[in-house]
Amino acid sequence: MKIGLGCDHAGYEGPPPYYKPCIKQHLQNRGLEVIDFGTFSSAPVDYPDVAKSLCEAIGRGEIERGVLLCGTGIGMSISANKFPWIRAAVCTTPFMTILSRTHNDSNVLCLGRRILTLEECLHIINIWLDTPFSGEERHCRRIEKNRRLLGGKEC
Ligand code: RB5
Repeated sequence: MKIGLGCDHAGYEGPPPYYKPCIKQHLQNRGLEVIDFGTFSSAPVDYPDVAKSLCEAIGRGEIERGVLLCGTGIGMSISANKFPWIRAAVCTTPFMTILSRTHNDSNVLCLGRRILTLEECLHIINIWLDTPFSGEERHCRRIEKNRRLLGGKEC
């Protein structure tokens, strides 16, 4: 699977090892092809710009899913969910992560550098990648309703 990865400067804050390159390596170690949408340093950038690039690439079918990292995961999720074809979930626990896949079929995972340890991030990423969507009718119906609420175009 081709997966996108993006962060703002929070991905490079705090003492090394920085979260962003560690997450990238982790995804590659899992055999995924990672398309990196930046940023690449601690110089401040605006998270909507990064989220937009990654989400548009999902819309064009260039990548299947994405991981976005910011201070809390919240800013990235707000930006990502502007796109009708995106189902972005901020996950802080394994349980949230499982449900974001089985119920919501989340296609973007948003993580908080200031909320989670690096180990917690990697654990959540593993769960997110390993958990399939349930495909249950009621969840499909709600996902479709959400897309229509957003005035969504087909993707
Ligand atoms: C950047 O300082 C911070 O505001 C951003 O990473 C994110 O937490 C916003 O939701």
